Amino acid sequence: MTSTEADTQAESPQPDPNAVRLTINGREVVARKGDLVIAAAQRVGDYIPRFCYHERMSSVGMCRMCLVDIDTGRGPALQPSCMITVAPDMVVDTQSSSARRAQEGVIELLLAQHPLDCPVCDKGGECPLQDQAFSHGPGESRYIEEKRHFEKPIPISDLVLLDRERCILCDRCTRFADEVAGDALIHFSSRGNNTQITTFPDEPFASYFSGNTVQICPVGALTAKPYRFKARPWDLEQTESTCTTCAVGCRTVVQSSHDELLRYQGVDSDPVNWGWLCDRGRFNFEAVNSRDRLSAPMVRVDDELQPTTWNAALARAGELISEAKAAGGAGSIAVLGGARGTNEDAYAWARLAHDVIGTPHVYPQMGDGAEINLLGFDRATIDEAANASTIILIAPDLKEELPVLYLRLRDAAQKRRSRIIEFAQKGSGLSPYAWKTIEYQAGNITEAVRSAGKNPVIATQIEKGDVVIVAGRANLAEHPLEVGNGVVAALQLAQGAKVLPALRRGNIVGAIEMGLIPGTDGMHVLEIAEAAAAGKIECLILLGCDPLADFPDTDLARRMMAGAPRIIAIDTFLTKSSSPADVVLAAAAYGEKSGTTTNIEGRVTTVSEKVTPRGTSRPDWMIAVELAERLGGDLGVSSVDDLTEAIAANVAGFGAATVAALRVARDGIVCKGSLPAATARVSTIDERNSYDYRLVVSRKLYDNAVGTSKSPSLAHLAPGSHVHLHPLDVERVGSTDGADVKVTSKRASMVFSVVADRTVVRGTAWVPFNQPGPSISELIDSNDVVTDVRVESF
Ligand code: SF4
Ligand code: FES
Repeated sequence: MTSTEADTQAESPQPDPNAVRLTINGREVVARKGDLVIAAAQRVGDYIPRFCYHERMSSVGMCRMCLVDIDTGRGPALQPSCMITVAPDMVVDTQSSSARRAQEGVIELLLAQHPLDCPVCDKGGECPLQDQAFSHGPGESRYIEEKRHFEKPIPISDLVLLDRERCILCDRCTRFADEVAGDALIHFSSRGNNTQITTFPDEPFASYFSGNTVQICPVGALTAKPYRFKARPWDLEQTESTCTTCAVGCRTVVQSSHDELLRYQGVDSDPVNWGWLCDRGRFNFEAVNSRDRLSAPMVRVDDELQPTTWNAALARAGELISEAKAAGGAGSIAVLGGARGTNEDAYAWARLAHDVIGTPHVYPQMGDGAEINLLGFDRATIDEAANASTIILIAPDLKEELPVLYLRLRDAAQKRRSRIIEFAQKGSGLSPYAWKTIEYQAGNITEAVRSAGKNPVIATQIEKGDVVIVAGRANLAEHPLEVGNGVVAALQLAQGAKVLPALRRGNIVGAIEMGLIPGTDGMHVLEIAEAAAAGKIECLILLGCDPLADFPDTDLARRMMAGAPRIIAIDTFLTKSSSPADVVLAAAAYGEKSGTTTNIEGRVTTVSEKVTPRGTSRPDWMIAVELAERLGGDLGVSSVDDLTEAIAANVAGFGAATVAALRVARDGIVCKGSLPAATARVSTIDERNSYDYRLVVSRKLYDNAVGTSKSPSLAHLAPGSHVHLHPLDVERVGSTDGADVKVTSKRASMVFSVVADRTVVRGTAWVPFNQPGPSISELIDSNDVVTDVRVESF
């Protein structure tokens, strides 16, 4: 080969083996192998009408609305474009007269039964059937027969209602329930003209993801109770934002009318939520609208909290901090919480605490999460986890704590991209999809991981490489250091694996990265609590946290609160912990403030203000700026954008997340700080006697958290506090399902009703955390590595 030939070859681009050339509406276009015609056409701007097709679910060809002329060499023929993949030299005509006639025919047929009650239908104004009847319908109908009538509406779940006569049998809701959520609890029943969506008798559509079916229903057949009849689409204003209910960070639009939040809808963010939301995140806007919200700051006068002006409240808060400093020095002030707000809130409070007040005792969690140094490992993204060949779970039940991460990992296992190796103290939502579930008891994670590594089948799987460890706190009755021990052991098996931290609270990663963590000589939250209980903390600042509800050790939380002579709370509601405060500063809630948030993978995305903050409540960052001034400091910022820029300039790893960059990066910007990683620590466990059960305490999606308990549609979904035992263990303690049993730890005894539950590992007792009913955290001592309880029938 001459050098000229070689140069030419090097310069000419290699043909893409996945490129497929075809013609759509007279234009030559290049699609990818495997693309559906409907998607390829849309990508070049030719929209083909559709009802059943949804790009995140398998195609079923149910509605026939997408019929177009497709010619593969044998002449044009009408074919459903959602079922046909592109082929070389294919000729597609979406506008031919036969395609138009077919589409008109489909609309005419659908409207033969559809009630045309658009003026009273929630979907009217944003309804694909309504829109496509105008754009692709015949304009008139030949059908004059009486339409179907059904009893309406029927509830198919606690949150979703069905008006059957509006259903066009597109199979979207049923496919979602089956394929995406794994809750195949809604189905078609009967045949022909009688076909309808139903649930099984006595089995409601009890899915954590039911709201998605309402969003993707192309007609108004499915409506959400919290939104039904509240507004029409043209009354709604909206802004794009990020859900901060948990730390997955699903992209949303926040919609309001008359300055009241009315609806959240999922937005398709490819690296994160694929358009889906969980019902807790979707419907907890009701809590923001709650009448119980704090609308003004309060100060304690004559032992009673009374509303006051910001001037008076900030002056009092400043006084309390100065008094505490005078009495015990800056180190006698502790700041707890901060995971509820934005990065900007957390950054301002971190600067206030560390630089202005000068205390190192700052902690963002209530002893109810995994250790913050889980963020120090080589961190995986959600996409990396969902595409790994092996996912090792040493984590809480993701379906309960990070629901859309559960959907992504379930998808990875179902589509056989990944094998899940789950280490479980109790069966989880992902157990049915796990390749291997290795049961272990609290305190034994290191041994469990090491012995799993000796199994040649597991070792061979891990050796394939590309492993992501999803790590978080599986048991609140077990010391948090055990999670780090598990990860260190797993990293010895899977060297080079990345770690996706399964921390739960909305912006916990942001709070940690922004510096709401202990400074040099700063104490861990458990040490802060012990110090306060011993009278060594002069002032406790609760930044949107409720230790009396969230600390797994209620006794310690009570002693901490009682031992602190001064308490300042920044909160949206008066909670168990903010009620005894000396000053309560009313905080703006989600939807009432702008800024950024950081999800578990370190992705920084924007959150947006949509409605005016309640009363005179203010964002946390603004409170920090003003409090700093009272204390003679200056944070040097006066707007949320100033703070975003300050974060980009000063926080390690966050340099790319500038205001300008975030404005255009719709999927956010992945930023990672440089915390040190957790190291293995020795834990000693007391011997237990043979009648003891090892306690497992973990969260359910719905609990007593204010976002749920102050949302009327969600509040009653919290399952309540019961002790769950394996059915054989229920027998062993001489009890029966539903009977009362006495549960005793070294701390206290309490009575719970018992539930026989096959997902509970034998020899352990599982109790959900922070539920209505008896509080299991009365029995836990946070200093212990594990908690053993005696269960007795009576
Ligand atoms: Fe489709 Fe809606 Fe009917 Fe479900 S209820 S099949 S989403 S039209
Ligand atoms: Fe293709 Fe329904 S969109 S058949």
